[in-house]
Amino acid sequence: MFLTSNQISVEKYRNKAAGYDQSAEFTMPLRRKTIAGLHLQAGDVVLDVGAGTGLSYALLLQGVGPTGRVLAFEQSPEMFAKATARLERAPCNNLWHTCASAEDVSLPQMADAVLFNYTHDILRTPEAVANILRQCKPGARVAVAGIKYFPWWTGPLNLLAWAKNRPYNARPADMWSPWDILQPHCATFERESTHWGMGYIAQGVLA
Ligand SMILES: C[S@@+](CC[C@H](N)C(=O)[O-])C[C@H]1O[C@@H](n2cnc3c(N)ncnc32)[C@H](O)[C@@H]1O
Repeated sequence: MFLTSNQISVEKYRNKAAGYDQSAEFTMPLRRKTIAGLHLQAGDVVLDVGAGTGLSYALLLQGVGPTGRVLAFEQSPEMFAKATARLERAPCNNLWHTCASAEDVSLPQMADAVLFNYTHDILRTPEAVANILRQCKPGARVAVAGIKYFPWWTGPLNLLAWAKNRPYNARPADMWSPWDILQPHCATFERESTHWGMGYIAQGVLA
């Protein structure tokens, strides 16, 4: 049976949701750094793309303050259930989230800032990127973190990058420049390598 990338991804996360927070604990410093790149201001509306279990929610809420709003979407029902449970444990009235795909999501308002934290599949899907960006204000700030291949001359090391990416992504290839669908939509885009070249973090401003 032929499965779409979205269906493959949903299947991958069905079993990952339970242990996701624990496995992502070591990523918190990088998550904080990526979110800092959004330069959030009180009153901002920030979008958390492919929000997973909502691990970024507290940091984003802190950034926008009580007058701002966090919007989020996540397509995996199991990951979204975890995000909902997180919200039930710490209720707040300025976070809106929905279980939807990046290709189809419809936001209640335009975003001032948008976070792509380890959302490789979404970044590699032009329709998904287009649907998100059309719901962001011109000049919205963008921050991205993710996995990429080591430089080509490291050769077999990239098997490691591919193997690390495969359990999480339906499109485990396409890792030479995973940002290159998003970047042309940006007026500025600054990127640096992380994880000895196997990751990247970027920040910019939409055109
Ligand atoms: C590696 S996790 C990162 C989750 C979260 N951004 C974080 O920082 O913890 C990737 C997430 O993207 C979601 N995802 C993948 N493709 C998607 C799509 N097309 N639309 C919405 N969510 C998607 C997955 O279900 C998964 O929860």
